Amino acid sequence: MNSGDVKKNLAVFVSQRMEMGDTEWPCGQEALETCSSLELIGTVHRDSQQESAASDDSLETLYETVHGCLRCPLGHTRNKFVFGSGNPHADIMFIGEAPGADEDTQGIPFVGRAGKLLTKMIEAIKLRREDVYIGNILKCRPPSNRDPKPEEIEKCEPILIRQIEIIRPKIICALGRISGTTLLRSRASLGSLRGDVHDYHGVKLIITYHPAALLRNPNWKIPAWEDLKFLRREYDGLELT
Ligand code: URA
Repeated sequence: MNSGDVKKNLAVFVSQRMEMGDTEWPCGQEALETCSSLELIGTVHRDSQQESAASDDSLETLYETVHGCLRCPLGHTRNKFVFGSGNPHADIMFIGEAPGADEDTQGIPFVGRAGKLLTKMIEAIKLRREDVYIGNILKCRPPSNRDPKPEEIEKCEPILIRQIEIIRPKIICALGRISGTTLLRSRASLGSLRGDVHDYHGVKLIITYHPAALLRNPNWKIPAWEDLKFLRREYDGLELT
């Protein structure tokens, strides 16, 4: 997808939300106008370096559009909106559930104890944290780290879907049962979802344990290592562009 397509998609996304009566997206009209003017800029010739700078811009543009979100009550209790972090051109995306206390303070996903373990899990399959993109289903912390509510997921998931459209990862790794079953709209157990390649909006999806669960139950690190090797094998089997 070139930068023109990405901007066009963002313009369509914002205008669809507005047509659906969704007036709570901050800067909706402003973002739409920005997109329209960027569309005009998009007709100007760009070299490849400018092209990649422009597509990085698109995650930034999405961030600008959504980071003040107040579409659910979590927007009123958060300290920081935790958009996501990492390589905007990543082939692998890790998706957790929702920010915890450390993430809410710093505005960065997976920076607490579970995050440090996630970094080790990524390094165990010979990647670096900065190679991948890390995000969550919810961008704001639920009070006392309770499970996300369906209405919160419904309001927040479009941001994740848009991030995936922009980043275009080859594989997604869902961290934990809640992340996996939420993305797949499934009630299945983590055990039955592990070890398979699922589909999430046209992207391969693999599910493993949440690092926080591994901290609580270190016995699960053995099956989690099997999942990580499975992820690495799927990644190695990809035709990367
Ligand atoms: N747990 C999650 O699911 N996400 C984070 O960002 C941190 C902890």
